[in-house]
Amino acid sequence: MTKATPAQLMERRAKLLGPNVSTFYEDPLHLVKGEGVWVWDADGKRYLDCYNNVAHVGHCHPHVVQAISEQAATLNTHTRYLHEGILNYVERLTSTFDNLLDTAILTCTGSEANDIALRMAEAITGKRGVIATDHTYHGNTSIVAQLSRTNATDLGRVEHVRHVPAPDSYRPLGGKSGEAHAKAFTQTVSDAIDDLENTEHGFSALILCPSFINEGFPQLDAGWLDSVCALVKKRGGVFIADEVQIGFGRVGTHLWGHQRIGIQPDIVTLGKPMGNGHPVAGVVTSMDIMTAFRTSFRYFNTFGGNPVSCAAANAVLDVLETENLMGNARIVGDYTRKGLSELSLKHEVIGDVRGYGLVFGAELVTDRSTRAPAPNFANKVVNALRHRGIVLSRLGIHYNTLKIRPPMPFSKDNADFLLSELDQVLTSLGQAVD
Ligand SMILES: Cc1ncc(COP(=O)(O)O)c(C=O)c1O
Repeated sequence: MTKATPAQLMERRAKLLGPNVSTFYEDPLHLVKGEGVWVWDADGKRYLDCYNNVAHVGHCHPHVVQAISEQAATLNTHTRYLHEGILNYVERLTSTFDNLLDTAILTCTGSEANDIALRMAEAITGKRGVIATDHTYHGNTSIVAQLSRTNATDLGRVEHVRHVPAPDSYRPLGGKSGEAHAKAFTQTVSDAIDDLENTEHGFSALILCPSFINEGFPQLDAGWLDSVCALVKKRGGVFIADEVQIGFGRVGTHLWGHQRIGIQPDIVTLGKPMGNGHPVAGVVTSMDIMTAFRTSFRYFNTFGGNPVSCAAANAVLDVLETENLMGNARIVGDYTRKGLSELSLKHEVIGDVRGYGLVFGAELVTDRSTRAPAPNFANKVVNALRHRGIVLSRLGIHYNTLKIRPPMPFSKDNADFLLSELDQVLTSLGQAVD
């Protein structure tokens, strides 16, 4: 059988999946195989995966594959039957959190997890009003999608969501970084709470990714969110930490992003890396909040917490531990960022290098003195790297930040390859920065 070309696949997609189904890259990638930090296209070309956090412990990790296949060959049902798989996993998972966060619900997607978190907040506070940043993404259920301003339409708009400006450490609110920036951000949250409290909705929850990944991972150090958390508590609300992207050791020093900055959320949501590609996600919270939710809403999820999902999730924790992947994230992340900073000495276009562990990147600018973003140039860099065998992407408030978030076994050799290819691309694209 002849192999389908990318153009033919694109045509079939449009016919079968409808319009506006997004793809990465001007020349979309047709991937057929993955192993560790590598993926292969249909022509057998190999790419270094510097982007996919879902394949957290490496694409097709044999221990996870074996755990899934053994459980799939034994039994798969749902949580209306008793099974130790979910109990053992939730016990193991919650032991990594603060003592108060000792119960969980397992779901299939991060969107469902955030949907439940909002309903938990409503159950415990009796209010509905939610605050999020204006450059975030928390998922795609009809309510959770309303938290997003960047890819939402006006259809289905709700009245109980308020947005605050996403933190930007390179161009901080009020012009000053550190404590002054934190204070300015806290003030915007305080204003939004006042605004909600003046409506019938009241203030229920603030939902944030503790590393603001979708906002472009601004460099915000421990303590930065302390005053916001204190404010949320004082005003009777719930703080939801969306760790769907950054959880499970990616930040390098802690298993969870909120632990890195020393805050105590009321609810934490998890997803993407949790099953290394198997669809499992979850919500972790205290017994008080869980009880309020379980008594206010009837909730059942056919696939959430099934034995195969729990086997996958448990195997991910095994690999994280046995291969010390959190330690690797810290060491290789530091090494790669140092390399990026060295490249910035040579390439004026790199305005800012930031991040921690294995989630970081470089913000590209047309002019360092004005910090004017270079989104078109960033797009050219991403597409040029794709043709040189490197998979990564760009994001941030101005879509000009190269986003590097590889599977956790990423090595120094992998980093050297990435840095050398990036150097060559920046040199070859030259001065045409836009
Ligand atoms: C921070 C964050 N939360 C939630 C989600 C939604 O997760 P899912 O796509 O599994 O529904 C995403 C997805 O990109 C995300 O980045």
